[in-house]
Amino acid sequence: MKSTKEIREDFNNFFINKGHTKVLASPVIPYSDPTLMFTNAGMNQFKDIFLGTGKRDYTRAVNSQKCIRAGGKHNDLDEVGTDGFHHSFFEMLGNWSFGDYYKKEAITWAWELLTEVWKLDKSKLYATVYKDDDEAEELWKTVTDIDHSHISRHGDKDNFWSMGDTGPCGPCTEIHYDRGIDFCDKQNIPGHICEANGDCARVFEIWNLVFIQYNRDENGVLTPLPNKHVDTGMGFERVCQVLQKQNSNYHIDLFRDIITEIEIVTGVKYQTDESGTPHRVIADHVRTLLFAISDGGMPSNEGRGYVLRRILRRAVRYGTKLGMNEPFLYKIAPTVADVMGDEFPEIRKYLKHAQSIIQAEEKMFLTTLTKGVELFSEFVRMKKDGGKIIDGETIFKLYDTFGFPVDLTAQMAEEIGYSMDNAGFEAAMKKQKDQSRSNQKFKGSSDIDWIVLSETNSTRFIGYDTLEAASKIVKYRIEKDKIYLVPDESAFYAESGGQIADKGSVVINGETLSVLDVQKDGDFFSISAKKLEILNISAETVLEQKVDKTFRDECRMHHSATHLLQAAIRKIYGDHIAQSGSFVGNNIMRFDYSHYEKMSDENIRKVEEIVNSFVRMNLPITTEVMPLAEAKKTGVTALFGEKYGEIVRVVRMGTVSAELCGGTHASRTGDIGYFRILSETSIAAGIRRIEAVCGHYAVIKAADQRDIIETIIKMQSVKEHDILTRLEKVSLDKRELEKSINELNEKLAMTQMADLISKKISINGINIISSIVQVSDAKILKNMAENLRNQLQMSIILLGADIDNKASLVCAVTDDLKGTIKAGQIVGQVAKMLGGGGGGADHLATAGAKDVSKLHEALESVKTSI
Ligand code: ALA
Repeated sequence: MKSTKEIREDFNNFFINKGHTKVLASPVIPYSDPTLMFTNAGMNQFKDIFLGTGKRDYTRAVNSQKCIRAGGKHNDLDEVGTDGFHHSFFEMLGNWSFGDYYKKEAITWAWELLTEVWKLDKSKLYATVYKDDDEAEELWKTVTDIDHSHISRHGDKDNFWSMGDTGPCGPCTEIHYDRGIDFCDKQNIPGHICEANGDCARVFEIWNLVFIQYNRDENGVLTPLPNKHVDTGMGFERVCQVLQKQNSNYHIDLFRDIITEIEIVTGVKYQTDESGTPHRVIADHVRTLLFAISDGGMPSNEGRGYVLRRILRRAVRYGTKLGMNEPFLYKIAPTVADVMGDEFPEIRKYLKHAQSIIQAEEKMFLTTLTKGVELFSEFVRMKKDGGKIIDGETIFKLYDTFGFPVDLTAQMAEEIGYSMDNAGFEAAMKKQKDQSRSNQKFKGSSDIDWIVLSETNSTRFIGYDTLEAASKIVKYRIEKDKIYLVPDESAFYAESGGQIADKGSVVINGETLSVLDVQKDGDFFSISAKKLEILNISAETVLEQKVDKTFRDECRMHHSATHLLQAAIRKIYGDHIAQSGSFVGNNIMRFDYSHYEKMSDENIRKVEEIVNSFVRMNLPITTEVMPLAEAKKTGVTALFGEKYGEIVRVVRMGTVSAELCGGTHASRTGDIGYFRILSETSIAAGIRRIEAVCGHYAVIKAADQRDIIETIIKMQSVKEHDILTRLEKVSLDKRELEKSINELNEKLAMTQMADLISKKISINGINIISSIVQVSDAKILKNMAENLRNQLQMSIILLGADIDNKASLVCAVTDDLKGTIKAGQIVGQVAKMLGGGGGGADHLATAGAKDVSKLHEALESVKTSI
């Protein structure tokens, strides 16, 4: 009997001899095709050729493709383990013609391989043909010696193959195999016939020959492709079942070792009947997980990651049926790697990495499973109304809080004869989605996503003494394009105590990644970096750490400077001054302290001088770890309100400063070089903030400030010691100039008065002045109107001006017209015509409008309306 290995080789060699090129299988994660969840057929990697957008240097290809059908259009997950011929992971043997041979050769060779090379009994072979594919049927009858009564026609569902909702597709012809009457479970049903595409499992499909002719677009429309192609797919495990004369795919030699390993690990003997389902499901799912993770997949809460998580959880639950309440799936993976690693070396290469992930996921799920099962049983027990329905809220709670895939709940429900309120579940899900959208800021990492590699419960910070480390990875997590690595030891300082995180790089599996951030997560340090293309992380993986020395040194000097600054402020104001916060960066520091008043310029200068004198003393900076009580006795400065652990770290700078601090510091105060205050401000009532820089950042700041002074000196053409007198004079001169300009403007306005009076017209004994005047501001305009009002009787004065491209209006009415005419009304009416508005008292009102172009027209129209 041929082994699976030989059967695979037979297939490849048969087509290599017919001019086909053996091509490597593509990864099960289709990185470059967003329309696909997993690689679901051998043709996926050739999609571009079919669509006419890609080319290869061969026109015939053959391979064995690793496929996952557990989501999207082709999904076999629910059948896995219950029958003997469905898998979530399987191999598809395929041969392809890209615009080369077509139906005739495809059918001829398929028949030749099956009946001449493998010598299958012709009387057991059936062919199905697409409903209007006369050509294919004719070929079956002429190029093969198949029993003509074994050819049947079928519609779109069975004989038209599509890759997904969109993409290449075409009619197909399938070859089915009759496994014998024992495989029919419908013998008692009157009228039942065992046949290809029938409703029993006796005759099953082993090979599909697709004639790719069309592309299907988003609207379902088929467009003919530039060329015609052949795409075939043979179920490898099925054909092995037939050739090895087994009654189930799970009984072929490839699965035998895997199932034996499951027997050993679980201690439960495999049964070929229904009670063997857990073994079959576990064997299938471990294959899927190992292959998916080796190709870069990762269980998670969304997309394909979620499908993988569900598959793993399904396997864990079947494990519990075998009494497994500890992680065990990861122990099966090495056998899969042994059996299949020759053909697919990647599953050997990434075995440890995959095992870590599988084990961590198992552990996490087992914890939640126990809680979930309790909740489920509790619900059933409490249900008094007798209705056998699991309500939506409960399904949701199991899913959301305990990570229970809905299909598991459904399965548990089915086992006790309950149905599911799926609509209620959808509603609860939607409600939570809406809620979480409004609570985005709480979204963050959860325990769920850590892959735990070791039991270590904290990260040791070794970065006080070294800038390099080669550590283990305790756990890690992937979020979008970032990876978070938690080491057992960290040379990187994690952001804390006001000091920012170190920069630098890590090397992992030979790849250098620059560190994006380092944060504390409880007692752990989490180093984040851009995600690696290919992960291969296990408990043995070494994480090389290299901290950026310049960056660290700059942070050190800024941190030490905050301590000296605190000491200097206390020297001036007294020891009651308390720090209320701080920030230490590589190029700036901030120090916040409580004080009731602004620091005078004189004191700012003093503080700066004191700090610089400490710097010049070049005091040694020492650190000492001791019990808190002891530290307090020596009079160290502790932050008010901050809680320190029992053991504390005291940082001393000569005798001028002693503070409790976990930060990184300079070796001597002289390392600070130079300290310069940038600003002193208030940030809240009673809280002041000083911003300052050190070292070369302070030198640069000083040089920049000198450049500014030099520029001013040049602009003013004076000596340095005269610059302040000069600037004072300039500002005094400016004020005087402005005053005389205003006076001139007023005078200019008044000269227009006589002219305006002469232009007045008289209607029914009322004088009207309505005119445009030239003024520079609205105040003067108003003065003019008032002035005219005081000089005239029985008069309405309406003045308009263009001031900075806007219309300004004023209306004044003499007292003798009081009660008859209102200034506000008139000015409002004019402003309205110009698209503006305004108002005021009856005797004097102002208005404004944007449109100045119609000012003249508007002023004229008023004359008539009055
Ligand atoms: N692509 C075809 C299938 O998957 C051969 O059935």
